[in-house]
Amino acid sequence: MSVIDEVKDRLDIVEVISSYIPLQQAGRNFKALCPFHSEKTPSFVVFPESQNWHCFGACSEGGDVFSFVMKWEGWDFRTALEEMAQRAGVELRPRTPAQKEAEEKADRLRELLDTCARYYQHLLLHAPEAQKTRAYVTERGLNEESIERFTLGYSLPGWDSARAYLIERGYTVEELIEAGALVHREDTQRTYDRFRDRLMIPIRDRDGYVIGFGARTLDPKGVPKYLNSPKTSLFDKSHTLFGLDLARKAIRREDRAIIVEGYMDVMQAQQAGFANVVAQMGTALTEQQLKQLQRYTKRLVLALDPDAAGVQATLRGVEVARETLEQEWEPVFDPRGLVGYEGRLGAEIRILQLPPGQDPDDLIREAPERWKSLIEAAVPVVDFYIQILMKGLNVDDSKAKAQVVDELLPVLQAVANPVERSDYVQKIARTLQLDVRAVQSRLNSTARQSARRPARRPPSKAQGAPTTLAEAEADLEGHCLALFLQRPSILAQINETLQQEQQEPLQAHDFQDTTYRALFTVWQTLAEDKNHIPIDRLYEHLPTDLHQHLDRLLSDDKIDPALADEQVVRNAVLTMLRLRERNLKRLGRELSILTQEAQEAGDVRAEQYAAAWRTHTEMLRRTQQALAQQ
Ligand code: UTP
Ligand code: MN
Repeated sequence: MSVIDEVKDRLDIVEVISSYIPLQQAGRNFKALCPFHSEKTPSFVVFPESQNWHCFGACSEGGDVFSFVMKWEGWDFRTALEEMAQRAGVELRPRTPAQKEAEEKADRLRELLDTCARYYQHLLLHAPEAQKTRAYVTERGLNEESIERFTLGYSLPGWDSARAYLIERGYTVEELIEAGALVHREDTQRTYDRFRDRLMIPIRDRDGYVIGFGARTLDPKGVPKYLNSPKTSLFDKSHTLFGLDLARKAIRREDRAIIVEGYMDVMQAQQAGFANVVAQMGTALTEQQLKQLQRYTKRLVLALDPDAAGVQATLRGVEVARETLEQEWEPVFDPRGLVGYEGRLGAEIRILQLPPGQDPDDLIREAPERWKSLIEAAVPVVDFYIQILMKGLNVDDSKAKAQVVDELLPVLQAVANPVERSDYVQKIARTLQLDVRAVQSRLNSTARQSARRPARRPPSKAQGAPTTLAEAEADLEGHCLALFLQRPSILAQINETLQQEQQEPLQAHDFQDTTYRALFTVWQTLAEDKNHIPIDRLYEHLPTDLHQHLDRLLSDDKIDPALADEQVVRNAVLTMLRLRERNLKRLGRELSILTQEAQEAGDVRAEQYAAAWRTHTEMLRRTQQALAQQ
């Protein structure tokens, strides 16, 4: 028995989950309001028999005790395993020397940065040189509580104040460079304080550890306005959202995250009690940032600059969201993948439009209620596109109108819900003063065109059936995982083929086995470049107890190097589809029991379960159809 099975065996999922949320017994199972999205009737079910949980509502996600605590606590798998093993009284193998060394180094850097932040804060509060900065903070409307909450600070004008202080505290110059506190000039071999005479804003990771700084100059001519820490082993701006440590609980509770541009916006929002706000820190929204948020909510509101450049930036952000979703949740997109994803997974991205010339910082200070109503008024991405395309359009110019319609078609096509789609068609027709039927028929004809577009088919059977199908039957999940661990470049092709079959891309919850799911999840978080799997880092991030499983997947069952990519992809897709078929069947069974129980008890949820059952049955049908086609 693997250590994971042992932990699971000793824990009762009902007991663990009910230590987080109240569970209510219903027949053989337990129910609750889903903690991962907001809802009024419980669609979150815990199954004591299979020791699984599932949300049959908007999340449509499930898993075992590990995936629950990972999702709830935001833990990575290793932490979850450690915590659960301790709870179960199971002893784990110690971390490897390489793991320990990496952690000790990271701990030491975190400690250094924490010391540094407190040093800067002390200066802000007490140094005579900081007087102007203190006044500035007050003038920007930040109160003492905020100074405290964000550990705001001040860096002295000299070239080596921070260095002297930190060296005195026992840190080495190398460590200071590594933490980004010192600049090291290669040419002169000189080192000096990176931050001088600036308001210091510590940037924290989602667990609240300081990982870097944003430092604002008070000099109106000072360049850059904000100087940020460089990329270090702890800090990467494009992976970080400012304020997430303070916002994540609220984001989960409200099932919505507001994304703003800057430090000031977040601090002002927090001070005014709007807790679900994070900042992308000036850069375009990145995939990694979105992935972080995805752990807490799928409902995003982008509150970005309303001027032309800002709109462009927002659209770029949407574009990134699109690409991220493409890989993670939904493979189709243009602006349309985004919309398709909205329809299918119940996720949404909205755009909050700020009044010209105002950022959230100003707005919240002036009129907090206004901020609230703007959030409520945030429009779905489709509407945002419609608005932008229609801006300044002359409704008498029929050529221009036709062009707008054509640009909107792909967006419309991806709206999964037909009722919603027809609403948009009417809206567009009304705004453009066109006949609804004209817009509709244009939509229909492009839909047909894209349906006719020849799909890239995998090679025909004549070229040889998958060689390892028998093994696939025996151990579908391990097999699939081994395939793409050994040939990472095929993952994109697998997802593409799945997409052609109207299937979602590969996801962690395709794997039911905790070990495989953990491996996939860790790999997913590490794989920055989809074609390169950092095997060393995989080992580093995996609990030692799982190393042997990884060894096995990487060595056993070696894919014949002579096998063409197409065949491996085909093999993997088949395997995936079988996995999904199996999972859907299991869920379908559970749902039909739930429905029956609810019906017998006269429970109003019977209809909801029945609807979920129909959806699952439809998904099963589609999966089986795809299987038949392969
Ligand atoms: P803004 O220039 O809009 O800053 O840049 P702001 O937050 O409104 O700042 P104040 O109100 O003038 O103090 C938005 C964000 O872009 C990043 C910062 O994260 C900033 O909060 N930025 C901006 C930089 O990183 N460097 C810069 O030089 C400027
Ligand atoms: Mn500002």
